[in-house]
Amino acid sequence: MPGIVVIGTQWGDEGKGRIIDLLSDKVDAVGRYAGGNNAGHTIIVNGQKIVLHHIPSGILRANKLSVIGNGVVIDPKILIEEMEGLKNLGFNVSPENLKISDRAHLIMPYHKLLDKRSEARMGDGKIGTTGRGIGPVYEDKAARRGIKLSDLLFEDFFSRRLKLIFDEKKLFMSEMFVDENLTHKSMLNEYLEYGSILSPYIADTSLIFHELLNKGKNILFEGAQGALLDVDFGTYPYVTSSNAGSGGVCSGTGISPTYINKVIGICKAYTTRVGEGPFPTEVNGETAETLRANGKEYGATTGRPRRCGWFDAVAVAYAIRVNGISNLMLTKLDVLSAFETIKICTSYRFRNDKLVNFPSNYEVLNNCEPVYEEMEGWKCDLKPGNPESIPANLTRYLNRIEEIMGIPVTLLSVGPSRDEYIMLKDNLLN
Ligand code: GDP
Ligand code: IMO
Ligand code: MG
Repeated sequence: MPGIVVIGTQWGDEGKGRIIDLLSDKVDAVGRYAGGNNAGHTIIVNGQKIVLHHIPSGILRANKLSVIGNGVVIDPKILIEEMEGLKNLGFNVSPENLKISDRAHLIMPYHKLLDKRSEARMGDGKIGTTGRGIGPVYEDKAARRGIKLSDLLFEDFFSRRLKLIFDEKKLFMSEMFVDENLTHKSMLNEYLEYGSILSPYIADTSLIFHELLNKGKNILFEGAQGALLDVDFGTYPYVTSSNAGSGGVCSGTGISPTYINKVIGICKAYTTRVGEGPFPTEVNGETAETLRANGKEYGATTGRPRRCGWFDAVAVAYAIRVNGISNLMLTKLDVLSAFETIKICTSYRFRNDKLVNFPSNYEVLNNCEPVYEEMEGWKCDLKPGNPESIPANLTRYLNRIEEIMGIPVTLLSVGPSRDEYIMLKDNLLN
């Protein structure tokens, strides 16, 4: 009864959606466990580009169950639009193949306003959030001021709860100078309508996960964001507000750790980051422009240009350690085909010290200089399919990554479309 976790090993946008789309063919169900519509997971099927924000990437496969777990925060308006968008493209989205946790917390209009206002207030000290209300909704969840999806099914209860919460929220909003005409009544009516649209999909998803696993079915747990954006193990405070790493799976789905057989890490062959925060291997100038242009490095959710840099083996080794990753799947190798030489950061220099372990403190990380190894590039197009066609310099690069990380690289992605990959070792389920 394998539970397989697939997470990003960097600062998000590693190509998780694209890989999970491939892997979902081999499992029975795909579940999301953390984050919300700050995520943007891109999949290209038959030339059609699809970007998923809440819905697991398995939704594009017939006869697979997609489950949004309790750890996910939901913006119901956006979720309903996402469901409609998929239906318009001809994909099946019905209560038979999509289940949404009754315990999932709701992003309310005031969460989005407060997220944006807080960022504006912080000026240069801002986090660079997606502005989707993610920080404020998780704050309210922890402060026991949240509204859960199933609350919408009980009109009187929801009305009373919203009043209690919103009365306090109004005080906070006025202190934060949020000037908006939100009212209890307008939110009540709007969210009750969302509740009635979503009600056939609402379920106790923990029970569903358990029943599937106990029947010997395989479930893939789809990470959002990445290991370095995890609220505990990421580059705090420049992180998201949930446990994006493998640690979040149990609390975000209601299954026990004993069901998790394997954690797979998705890793870009270079590094990108959206928003603020330390990024030791960041580059500027021509190299950054080439990576950004060839890799189309613009955010799938906000359209912001992504900051670009070389592969950071110190950071990825840390992600492997704190998440128990057993193999890596490398994406965007085709983007590196443009370079004569390719750099891998193998340690940091901090003042007079050499650091081989990723530091926990912002001030240290922000002042680390990357120490690079340089390797000869392969300078040719990479062909999907056959591992025999891999150029010798790419094999050397992969061997070096495996040597540094101590775990195998089992799949290479060489383009954004579904079929553009090279399987090195097909060991998903064992
Ligand atoms: P996610 O959030 O981890 O699912 O990743 P995003 O979808 O936000 O960003 C990854 C971007 O890279 C998307 O535009 C994908 O279409 C694209 N992509 C994924 N894998 C590859 C690859 O191997 N090569 C190229 N050129 N693009 C890729
Ligand atoms: P996927 O799942 C990349 C970043 C934001 C910001 C920080 C906090 O597509 O990989 P938030 O809105 O969560 O409060 O923003 O986290 N961030 C992401 N960066 N990919 C994502 O998701 C991200 N989700 C959040 O840019 O720096
Ligand atoms: Mg993304």
